[in-house]
Amino acid sequence: MRSVVLAMVLAFAVSVGVSYAGDAGKGDGLFHGAGKCKVCHKTDDKKLVGPGLAGVTKSYDDAFLKEWIGNPQATWAKGGPAIEAMQKKVNKVGKPKTAMAPGKLTPEEIDDVIAYLHTL
Ligand code: HEC
Repeated sequence: MRSVVLAMVLAFAVSVGVSYAGDAGKGDGLFHGAGKCKVCHKTDDKKLVGPGLAGVTKSYDDAFLKEWIGNPQATWAKGGPAIEAMQKKVNKVGKPKTAMAPGKLTPEEIDDVIAYLHTL
């Protein structure tokens, strides 16, 4: 029975285009706490070390954000359209390294942070 309910919830989530299952409230705490995101990012559109993150989920999809937040340097090195867009935005086209430090969040915590980014 539980798995049927779960399957229905998942089917609904997929049908409305929600591909993350994070908790925005927890993500808020992680962003400003253990995730250390706030050391480099503001939640409005003002630059700190990195770009302000207001509206950032309109620029990148969740799958990319998950990869990026989990391992910025590897994602940067791999390239692709999202990285090219980011490099243009931050004026680092052709630079071998990103200035974003890797965090120590679990995959579940990253989902929470992404859910929080959706609220910005
Ligand atoms: C040491 C500083 C630093 C920390 C800590 C950091 N970032 Fe970043 N982040 C950056 C920089 C700098 C960039 C832009 C790429 C560059 O200039 O190398 C960036 C880019 C991003 C982008 C893409 C922004 C855009 O508009 O293109 C997102 C999303 C992001 N970071 C999320 C996070 C999250 C979530 C955390 C916490 C888990 C985090 N960052 C922690 C420095 C940081």
